[in-house]
Amino acid sequence: MFSANKERYDNMVYNRVGKSGLKLSALGLGLWHNFGSVDSFENQKAIIHEAFDKGITYFDLANNYGPVPGSAEENFGKIMAGDMKAYRDEMIISSKAGYEMWAGPYGEWGSKKSIIASADQSLKRMGLDYVDIFYSHRFDPETPLEETARALNQLVISGKALYVGISNYNGEQTKKIAKIFTDLGTPFIISQPQYNMFQRGVERDLFPVLEQLDKAAVGFSSLAQGLLTDKYLNGIPANSRAHKSTSPFLSETQVDETIATVKQLNEVASKRGQTLAEMALAWNLRNPVMASVLIGASRPDQIDDNVKALDNLSFSDEELKEIDLILGNQQKIDW
Ligand SMILES: NC(=O)c1ccc[n+]([C@@H]2O[C@H](COP(=O)([O-])OP(=O)(O)OC[C@H]3O[C@@H](n4cnc5c(N)ncnc54)[C@H](OP(=O)(O)O)[C@@H]3O)[C@@H](O)[C@H]2O)c1
Repeated sequence: MFSANKERYDNMVYNRVGKSGLKLSALGLGLWHNFGSVDSFENQKAIIHEAFDKGITYFDLANNYGPVPGSAEENFGKIMAGDMKAYRDEMIISSKAGYEMWAGPYGEWGSKKSIIASADQSLKRMGLDYVDIFYSHRFDPETPLEETARALNQLVISGKALYVGISNYNGEQTKKIAKIFTDLGTPFIISQPQYNMFQRGVERDLFPVLEQLDKAAVGFSSLAQGLLTDKYLNGIPANSRAHKSTSPFLSETQVDETIATVKQLNEVASKRGQTLAEMALAWNLRNPVMASVLIGASRPDQIDDNVKALDNLSFSDEELKEIDLILGNQQKIDW
């Protein structure tokens, strides 16, 4: 029987989410990969336990995480019904709706029909009464923003979500929906964009908007799916995301195209006394708009490595310049 580490809160950093009352652990664990029906359940439990033991309180899910879609929520539900049940009030659990989940016109995007039905399904799969944050997973160009906002608001009013967030919305879309949320009195607190050393567009487009609105960001794919670690320095391991057929989102070509840059970044990390993963996560957190960064993990020891990022979160101007220079070369690669 799992009994959580008593010192779990001692070394984690907890950041306030904008001007809300909520704090998130600076590192959050995402269940996009490695928690599906194709993955070992024992390993899933071990990863969740390790994360919680290290002070991670934020666990990020979505309706479609798997494979098969929905199975990550089901597996997480089993873990929550067992060992982690006693800790529900120490955890922030999120889900999302927006990407394709079931057949037909209501299984994706941002209509009220889709969002309410999807949230009900997610709660059932996870065996929870409510989620802490419910996200619109992507902007829907065909549904009025007001309808999506009202659907999220209704989840809060009906007690199914405590806070709401948006994901993959650009700056302009964020401004518009934030205004509707303000008018409705919805507790909209956070935006979840992709953010890492290779994906920096949000620094110009989204972050200034969030700062103006006093909202926070939580970045996803913080390690560029593993590219920003030492994993690929000596080739492509068989058990890596780039190699696995169940992970179509990272290709071996992407490894080949980035490895020269990754090697240079790794040298900067070594000079700082960090692994590349640690430096990449610390770098993501350097911007005060970032309340948290989401990591994925295929093994518990990756959590241990990643949490060490918090031991050195500061960068000298010279280090930042050197990283920018290295990344400047990477921008020429188009993917
Ligand atoms: N809102 C959205 O649209 C959206 C989209 C994508 C993701 N997300 C969220 O963001 C979360 C994180 O995304 P992600 O999984 O792409 O994150 P990531 O942290 O960039 O990549 C995770 C992968 O990197 C490798 N890794 C992690 N730590 C490592 C270490 N210390 N050393 C070596 N390798 C390491 C592992 O890959 P191996 O399997 O190769 O070991 C791991 O599965 C997701 O679970 C999800 O919650 C949201």
